[in-house]
Amino acid sequence: MEITITRTTMPKQKPSMDGIPFGTYFSDHMFLMNYTEGIGWHDARIVPYGPLSLEPSTMVLHYAQEIFEGLKAYRTAEGKIQLFRPNENIRRMNRSAEKLCIPPVPEDIYLQALKTLVETDRDWVPSEPDTSLYIRPFIFATDAHLGVHVAKTYLFCIICSPVGCYYPEGLNPVKIAIESREVRAVRGGTGYTKCGGNYAASLHASDAAERRGFSQVLWLDGVEQKYIEEVGSMNVMFKIAGKVVTPSVEKLTVLPGVTRKSVIDVLKRMNYEVEERDISVDELIAAAEDGTLEEAWGTGTAAVISPIGEISYKDRQYTVNNFEIGELTQKLYDTITGIQWGKTEDPFGWVVPVC
Ligand code: COI
Repeated sequence: MEITITRTTMPKQKPSMDGIPFGTYFSDHMFLMNYTEGIGWHDARIVPYGPLSLEPSTMVLHYAQEIFEGLKAYRTAEGKIQLFRPNENIRRMNRSAEKLCIPPVPEDIYLQALKTLVETDRDWVPSEPDTSLYIRPFIFATDAHLGVHVAKTYLFCIICSPVGCYYPEGLNPVKIAIESREVRAVRGGTGYTKCGGNYAASLHASDAAERRGFSQVLWLDGVEQKYIEEVGSMNVMFKIAGKVVTPSVEKLTVLPGVTRKSVIDVLKRMNYEVEERDISVDELIAAAEDGTLEEAWGTGTAAVISPIGEISYKDRQYTVNNFEIGELTQKLYDTITGIQWGKTEDPFGWVVPVC
């Protein structure tokens, strides 16, 4: 499919990358493509970044038929630009699309759109340490109609934002609170998809946790509120008595993270035993109490690898690894980011060059 490009006549001034807050500045261009029932995806185009015009009756504003993704473009020391496992994000978006009754985007058009947009905005891919260009693809229902049913028209949009660390803490440990009242996902629901509704459902508890000084909440399963699921902005992993354990994604209530999957592959290559299984909150707290909880970290595209230094449960606080970044956590961060920024060899073939 041909992607038409209309370049901006007013390029924006680029922000300073020093401590740049996450998701605040946007590059000069965006990708748009429409879907119309009976026609399919059409009018793929790159245009200057700017406001979208929507009728107040636009269906997504009422019924949240929307999905998104998050991936990054990295600048190597040689000045080249590369993506990290974009096809994983493309496939996950199409799995989300299936659940939300949104038409899938052909994989080849999607990848072409990502590469063409990043190449158009290549000057926006920062080169400072720990920075990258965060790419946010999203699709939403655009029918101007009130009535709860599957829409007939959609807009696929990709925007880009130069970013540093997701958490203001940087690579320093974060504090998380286990949420024992509210839930993020239930079995049979949308937990495994990246839909805006999942994040809306998490706001009430996250906001309360933030007010109490925590970066995020750690969600328990929505059935028994007994098993660890995910943090919302990242998946979680624990090193308990030398083994790495992480919640399984099989029950479709946890987001199947691309960084999660990559870290598991890296750990296996390092000969670590990794268990993807149910982890009860009781098991985690017992390990924290008897000292076998050695390290804890989150994994996500935005956060990459984020050490967890404190876990709070029912008003008790448990410090992990003296609130310091653990040896394995640091090694995983170095390995994953080393591949992403092209500093270390990529034995998995994960990196996709753009230009
Ligand atoms: C990502 O890690 O890319 C995400 O989409 C998480 C989001 C909360 C920033």
